[in-house]
Amino acid sequence: MKSENYLKEVLVTKEEIQAICERMGKEITRDFKDKEERIIVLGLLKGCQPFMSDLLKFCDLTLEIDYMDVSSYEGGTESTGEIKILSDMKSPVKGKHVIIVEDIVDSGRTIKKVQDLLEFREAKSITIATLIDKPSGRTVELVPEYIGTEVPPAFIIGYGLDYDELYRNLDCIGIPKDELIKESNE
Ligand code: PRP
Repeated sequence: MKSENYLKEVLVTKEEIQAICERMGKEITRDFKDKEERIIVLGLLKGCQPFMSDLLKFCDLTLEIDYMDVSSYEGGTESTGEIKILSDMKSPVKGKHVIIVEDIVDSGRTIKKVQDLLEFREAKSITIATLIDKPSGRTVELVPEYIGTEVPPAFIIGYGLDYDELYRNLDCIGIPKDELIKESNE
């Protein structure tokens, strides 16, 4: 997918994303390599998918992979605030280290909901790794342990991030062209 057809401004390039994956993957490896308990990398669908797959190439660890399908935007450009768990993870988490992988932390409500659930299920530890942090959107107190990069308060798409379920397959992240949002609304 050619990003210039869809974005009016690129905020994170393909090369920057790959460098983030390498840096973060190595940091996670360093921080978790001596853990005795099992590690689960938990991706929050659908946005996590490209980031999680690139990040894991740089995680030199023995780990489980699992997913939860969590949704809050319902096709629009702003979070609805109502977080739905559409599909739960398969593995038990009790006594395991859980690393949650997100494409973006915005209000923080999605992560908070998942964190609370994992705490209730007695995870040994809960760590957040996000490609994008948008601290300007935060409505709950939350600082991810691993942050790829910060973005300003604009609606963004690409590399997992969608508008109306489209444009997740762009290889970079940026601000969509105005006509693209209008076209999708017609
Ligand atoms: C997006 C994104 C995060 C969440 C962040 O997911 O992937 O999970 O919103 O927003 P928050 O910090 O304000 O909760 P979305 O609900 O759009 O589902 P998707 O991953 O399927 O696109």
